[in-house]
Amino acid sequence: MQHFLSILQLSQKQIYALFDRAFYFKTEKQYPNYANHRLALLFYEKSTRTRVSFEVAAQNLSIPVVHLDLKASSEAKGEIMADTLQTLAALGVNIFVIRHSKEGVLLPLVQSAFAEKIHLLNAGDGKQEHPSQALLDFMTILSAKKNLSDLKITLVGDLRHSRVARSFMQLAKILELPPLTLVAPKIWQPLEPEWGTLTDSLAEGLVSADVVICLRIQKERMLEEENMDLSQYQDRYTVTTKRLSLAKPDVMVMHPGPINREIEIEGEVADGPHSFILEQVQNGVFMRMALLEALINGLE
Ligand code: NCD
Repeated sequence: MQHFLSILQLSQKQIYALFDRAFYFKTEKQYPNYANHRLALLFYEKSTRTRVSFEVAAQNLSIPVVHLDLKASSEAKGEIMADTLQTLAALGVNIFVIRHSKEGVLLPLVQSAFAEKIHLLNAGDGKQEHPSQALLDFMTILSAKKNLSDLKITLVGDLRHSRVARSFMQLAKILELPPLTLVAPKIWQPLEPEWGTLTDSLAEGLVSADVVICLRIQKERMLEEENMDLSQYQDRYTVTTKRLSLAKPDVMVMHPGPINREIEIEGEVADGPHSFILEQVQNGVFMRMALLEALINGLE
């Protein structure tokens, strides 16, 4: 795998191979040494956990990490980024982990002449995709639930602006999981859901659910007419202990973070026995190790 831009690149077999490798890293704690590579973190958009997760993953694999202090520029981003990449490549960087607020920003880069000498990894592009997050979410679910064929997985929140939801729907489709239940108020429903059934009823999503994935309200990505009063949202959609009683007794509650407590999820649920939020964070490191290795060594 030269670059990793999208879940849509992967086959079922490759997704399971990445899971197996990530799980091996997690359980065996045997880490290969790739010190002859060098990785740059290019985060043109804010991030805490994804950035640190990639950094820790690289450290575990003995890959030196270069940081850049970037400020988003408003024009000619593709061109500027291409120059940045070529400069860093000349300095010996061969792996680039990039987050950007603009959708599809990596596509012209993978088509450029110098792309075959480097590896690009999409750490989130605008509203579009966040493929490493979908893989770590899948790892978290598969570590806890052995039989995926009749799982009810529900996504709740601002699905329209969520690259996490989009990548997860793509993954669920490739894996032929049962169609997801997609809960959102009408204004935040995805226009073309990749995999699942839309509803604006949280109860419908929660009843008998095995997994509930809450998503952040992404105000920064909304058009003016897409804004919704938060108290209205809370009245109908906050995942609370009381509402969660509709779900299966062993329901898993997930959230990619950052969390807005009492809005998307009640604090008590986030900290409670059903919460897998910190497990997601931990699994993220191992899945990203598997992904970095797949860039270096290839993935069958
Ligand atoms: C998500 C992101 O940035 O897409 N967070 C993350 O990577 N853990 C979700 C979000 O910002 O809501």
